[in-house]
Amino acid sequence: MKQCQQLAITQFGEPSVLAMQTAEVPQPAVNQVLVKVAYAGVNPIDAKTRAGLGWAAQQNKDNLPWVPGYDIAGEVAALGAGVHSLSVGDTVSGFVGFPLQGGGYSEYVVADANALSLVTEAVPLIEAAALPLAGQTAWQALEKVQVSAGERVLILAGAGGVGHIAIQLAVAKGAEVMATCSSANMAFITSLGGTAIDYCQAPLAEQVDRVDVLIDLMGGDVGIAALDCVKSGGRVVTLPTITADVVCEHARLLGLQAEGMLVSPSVEQNNAMMVMLEAGTLQLHIAARYPLSEGALAHQKIETGRTRGKVVLSVASSE
Ligand SMILES: NC(=O)c1ccc[n+]([C@@H]2O[C@H](COP(=O)([O-])OP(=O)(O)OC[C@H]3O[C@@H](n4cnc5c(N)ncnc54)[C@H](OP(=O)(O)O)[C@@H]3O)[C@@H](O)[C@H]2O)c1
Repeated sequence: MKQCQQLAITQFGEPSVLAMQTAEVPQPAVNQVLVKVAYAGVNPIDAKTRAGLGWAAQQNKDNLPWVPGYDIAGEVAALGAGVHSLSVGDTVSGFVGFPLQGGGYSEYVVADANALSLVTEAVPLIEAAALPLAGQTAWQALEKVQVSAGERVLILAGAGGVGHIAIQLAVAKGAEVMATCSSANMAFITSLGGTAIDYCQAPLAEQVDRVDVLIDLMGGDVGIAALDCVKSGGRVVTLPTITADVVCEHARLLGLQAEGMLVSPSVEQNNAMMVMLEAGTLQLHIAARYPLSEGALAHQKIETGRTRGKVVLSVASSE
């Protein structure tokens, strides 16, 4: 059997628990394809799971070593029975194995053919790998609070993986978008069409006139403090799942409509954003790329909480 390299969580803990392992290249089942992965996106959930936090860690605690990674882009290497929509050699991207299977930090992965988007030559493969989870989260967060043209929207952590996409999608809907960031990211937020709010300057409520919608990508005390920026009856979606209940509780006490959410893979949304990338109406910022074997550095980077845009692993170059 052909073998491949993967980066696995060997036990829960610091980034150093990530280690390369050898596995058999999987066979695609009916309606699946085998993808030779070129790039794998890195998301905060990967690092939280590695640290033993959250439901993906709970569900996989007896299943270590476990290969994380939900975002992939690469080339179709083999077709399972019944696959007619893709051909060997097609370049594809997708949000795969979510939430319990993971598997993207690997030279080869199998995925349902209908979960993958075709990547055209106009879209850099690295961007196609960075897009899925963060892009679909941004898309679904805006849908959850039904952002519409002319509304005032405040996005916390606008410079991050989800935030920098959410700003652009909200602007495209015709919303007036404000986004919080540090001073180093003010120009970045402006370049995406948002108004940058430096969270170090003063409390947000002193800097922002009341908004219709809050998209909270920070949660906890930062998310709770930002509720003071929302007008009575306004809508809030809070993304960090660990603090969603407490943020929603505070929001309701203030007369706001608030919900948490869990992203759900949608190939239609991925396709739509791939078209935007191709047309240049969506920009994806890659903060850093690391070889698969140096995934621990990628986790250290994402755990700083200061990433601008996305962190990606170069998988093919590890061969
Ligand atoms: N529920 C779901 O389905 C779901 C899905 C995806 C993500 N999430 C969660 O959503 C959160 C955001 O994800 P992400 O991928 O966008 O994270 P990320 O890329 O790691 O976010 C990093 C950004 O956070 C900003 N930041 C740090 N402290 C800040 C503060 N006090 N105020 C404003 N911005 C601050 C940083 O900007 P500066 O350097 O300028 O401070 C940096 O650009 C994470 O907790 C993630 O786990 C949830």
